[in-house]
Amino acid sequence: MLRGTKVGLRARHEEDIPVLRTELYDDVVNGSRAEGSPWRPITPGSKDPRLVVDDTNQGMVQFSVVDLAADTLVGTATLWGIDTHHRSAHIGLGLLPAARGQGYGSDVVAVLCHYGFVVRGLHRLQIETLADNHAMLRAAEHNGFVREGVLRASAWVLGEFLDEVLLGLLARDWKPVS
Ligand SMILES: CC(C)(COP(=O)(O)OP(=O)(O)OC[C@H]1O[C@@H](n2cnc3c(N)ncnc32)[C@H](O)[C@@H]1OP(=O)(O)O)[C@@H](O)C(=O)NCCC(=O)NCCS
Repeated sequence: MLRGTKVGLRARHEEDIPVLRTELYDDVVNGSRAEGSPWRPITPGSKDPRLVVDDTNQGMVQFSVVDLAADTLVGTATLWGIDTHHRSAHIGLGLLPAARGQGYGSDVVAVLCHYGFVVRGLHRLQIETLADNHAMLRAAEHNGFVREGVLRASAWVLGEFLDEVLLGLLARDWKPVS
């Protein structure tokens, strides 16, 4: 398990799946804002790749996020689009509604940076998020990510086009948050 100050990032367990499906992926608003594709329901027991992890997929690493003290599930974290030539990847995270706004997100980003830069030897990490996702922007900037551009009206979200912000962090600029 990877450990931050508040969170642990571990493998997906069978018992995580129904919680993530009902509390995270059944939420139409959150799904429409956080996914790059239209929301659709996930049938219980299906092998949806967001829930059932394929360990052989070299381009992506998926974690379940737990509260270290209570050992309870609080969300998901992903390193995706891993490019071993350019040594870059993207990060993504989603917390259960009850776990938001308590500092978990910033800690998850910190742990993903450690995994990307130290464990995987990557050179660049990138995040794309909606321009109005202030918690995600702050969690990224808290860890040293800088805004590199705005993708104007790039995301269709529940009836309107929204801007996305692209943030990047280079290994040489990364200072682990203590
Ligand atoms: C986005 C998300 C991961 C952030 O994690 P979080 O645990 O809620 O955020 P934190 O408590 O770590 O707060 C991060 C920063 O945002 C600020 N913040 C938290 N909630 C906020 C809100 N609703 N509005 C504005 N700022 C907020 C915090 O004060 C903190 O700022 P600081 O670094 O200056 O102290 C989480 O809210 C979430 O999972 N949201 C739904 C899914 C999602 O949007 N995923 C990202 C898709 S790209």
